[in-house]
Amino acid sequence: MFFDTNGIRLAYDDHGAGLPLVLLHAFPLNRSMWSPQVTALSRQFRTIAVDLRGHGESDAPLWNFSLDHYADDVCALLDHLAIPQAVLVGLSMGGYVSLAFSRTYGNRMMGLVLADTRAQADSPEGRTGRLNLAQTAYKQGTDAVADIMLPKLLGATSLRQNPQLAEYVRQTIRQTPVSGVLVDLMAMADRPDSVAHLRTLTCPTLVVVGQEDHTTPLADAHVMTTEIPGARLAVIPAAGHLSNLEQPDVFNDLVRNFVEELRAASD
Ligand code: MLT
Repeated sequence: MFFDTNGIRLAYDDHGAGLPLVLLHAFPLNRSMWSPQVTALSRQFRTIAVDLRGHGESDAPLWNFSLDHYADDVCALLDHLAIPQAVLVGLSMGGYVSLAFSRTYGNRMMGLVLADTRAQADSPEGRTGRLNLAQTAYKQGTDAVADIMLPKLLGATSLRQNPQLAEYVRQTIRQTPVSGVLVDLMAMADRPDSVAHLRTLTCPTLVVVGQEDHTTPLADAHVMTTEIPGARLAVIPAAGHLSNLEQPDVFNDLVRNFVEELRAASD
């Protein structure tokens, strides 16, 4: 399905009924990465997976957008679907978008799952890495981006044992518009530090991290768990940065239990 907002067209899927979960994908992927979650969790909940601007079937204008624009898109989707409040599930860049969303639209969040992400801004080396990756994407295209990103996205276990998953990730990155990659990189490089903001979050929060995630490692998950009042941490063994795809059953159980508890508490 599609909807128009802020001058662009965004694609999303909306499955199931009941408590709404909004699934926000990683860089440089798209909403298809949530397929195992949509299949399993839409039996109990309403799952809404959106292609962030620049990804999948959404428009990919080349401009100097910030992650606040991505958050505005998510809020516009909630408005479009007449959903007053939802649980946000953000993985990596999806987590950055969730944190941007929480700054402006915290009252629309019923709960938050921050998976394989971090609250700190980029280090100077991290920004330089983004600049270099942007030049690679611009000059050589997304094949080269896929070569660089694949080992950062999948853990050692998946790289060894799951060639099908590696192929899915590679193909998805190759299909991402170069403009989408460039805008993401600039937006992520400019995102503010959110560590102090974490203390102001009031909704129940689950922090998830793959044990083999070297892109946003356990130490980053610890920062979020320590700073967000009442947050809980779950570490997924034999998973890297894309923990939802690498260990989907474990990831689904964690989200299901978290959302069920939240629902029980609000009844
Ligand atoms: C992601 O998976 O969204 C990216 O690795 C995030 C990042 O580059 O900081």
